[in-house]
Amino acid sequence: MRVDIEHILFWMEAIRNSADRDRTLESFWRGQINSKVWLIENLQHYITEPVTIDIHGGWYGVLASLLFQSESNDNIKHITSLDMDIETVAISKTINMIEFQENRFNSVHSNMCKTKSSADIIINTSCEHLTKEEYGKWLHLQPFNSIIVLQSNNYFDCPEHVNCMQNLKEFEDSSMLDCFISKELILTKYSRYLLIGKKRVNA
Ligand SMILES: C[S@@+](CC[C@H](N)C(=O)[O-])C[C@H]1O[C@@H](n2cnc3c(N)ncnc32)[C@H](O)[C@@H]1O
Repeated sequence: MRVDIEHILFWMEAIRNSADRDRTLESFWRGQINSKVWLIENLQHYITEPVTIDIHGGWYGVLASLLFQSESNDNIKHITSLDMDIETVAISKTINMIEFQENRFNSVHSNMCKTKSSADIIINTSCEHLTKEEYGKWLHLQPFNSIIVLQSNNYFDCPEHVNCMQNLKEFEDSSMLDCFISKELILTKYSRYLLIGKKRVNA
């Protein structure tokens, strides 16, 4: 993946314009970026025709921006990044300004647990931020025919993480997906888990 200067300039503009710059910078930690690049490397094999993508809990839109700069870009018709933190809306639009102006990106303020997606691919890298009950509600709303991409981790040492996983097996067992990818990425402080699959018929 190659990140080009025009995109980096919009990333910097988003950080400069943020009311809480340190918070925005958290989405650029090495572990955060490497986890998203790893997700894209695994997902790109399933983006073989033009697709729409919804990213639930999309935070500041860095994953969307990396997807637009990946080899899958030509097959990405549109990405919607959805988050319940209103502060993320303007920041993620700036981070994805090039694609926002091309009508290929939008950022919306909403609760994913009340949002039924109709996208071809639905990504949720914020599973550790949802309680078990919230995760169940969220998954119940999502369609059976979409590809679902999930990430969680075992980084228990963060107050915002209300539902970390002990290991990959626990994540897979609790996810209610028929998985075609189930992988672990070992980072310096924690492990990130990745599942790609479709909703189990009885989920
Ligand atoms: C710290 S961030 C992202 C963490 C994740 N590991 C990642 O790198 O994408 C978690 C995000 O999930 C969002 N979030 C949590 N619960 C949500 C919900 N029910 N609906 C929408 N967004 C939610 C938060 O507002 C926050 O922006």
